[in-house]
Amino acid sequence: MTIPTLTTSRLILRPIENGDVDGFTRIWSDPEFARHVGGPVTSPDAVWHQMAGCLGCWLLTGVGPWSVVERASGTLVGRAGLWDEPGWPGVEALWYIGRPWWGRGYAVEAAAAAITWVLRLRPELERVCAAIVPANLRSVRVAQRLGMRRTGAEYLHEETHTIYAVSREDWSGRPDAGS
Ligand SMILES: CC(C)(COP(=O)(O)OP(=O)(O)OC[C@H]1O[C@@H](n2cnc3c(N)ncnc32)[C@H](O)[C@@H]1OP(=O)(O)O)[C@@H](O)C(=O)NCCC(=O)NCCS
Repeated sequence: MTIPTLTTSRLILRPIENGDVDGFTRIWSDPEFARHVGGPVTSPDAVWHQMAGCLGCWLLTGVGPWSVVERASGTLVGRAGLWDEPGWPGVEALWYIGRPWWGRGYAVEAAAAAITWVLRLRPELERVCAAIVPANLRSVRVAQRLGMRRTGAEYLHEETHTIYAVSREDWSGRPDAGS
């Protein structure tokens, strides 16, 4: 399959590649970054396996996460996109931005492009969700900025997650829905 590349005003979402191992290892080895997402991952081997899992998601489901690159600098700043795991509360938008780039709105910008893309790709999809542990307040703010509302809670990957979602109808009314 061909994974598309998406471009936003400040970011490029491109397929994950082997050369991303060092950048992702720097991002994931930061304990503050990793606090709510399973703890630090410091070994490049483990990071590569994570990347392979992301590309596996694309192959198995036709959607998945992208590497997020800052257009101005060409720097890898994170990973964002989609996740469609069996047993999940729906197609999920996900966002991981390295700590040096927090506070710039990159997570919202990347996730908005991914949501717009998947709603076009799958006309039958009624909503896009996010599963967030309640303590991850920064991520909750990202979901809220995306217009997502709390719809319930689910026990996923051995942890209780709050589920947020935005409907196709609500998304279509947003100014960033066309990005
Ligand atoms: C969750 C995470 C992506 C949020 O990062 P973030 O930088 O706080 O979120 P955004 O990229 O949307 O930035 C929003 C902040 O940038 C500010 N900002 C600056 N310029 C902005 C712009 N042009 N547009 C939007 N927001 C902007 C906003 O005011 C906002 O700050 P506030 O929340 O204090 O009001 C980041 O903390 C992270 O990657 N954490 C680790 C991984 C993780 O937990 N992922 C989620 C798993 S569910």
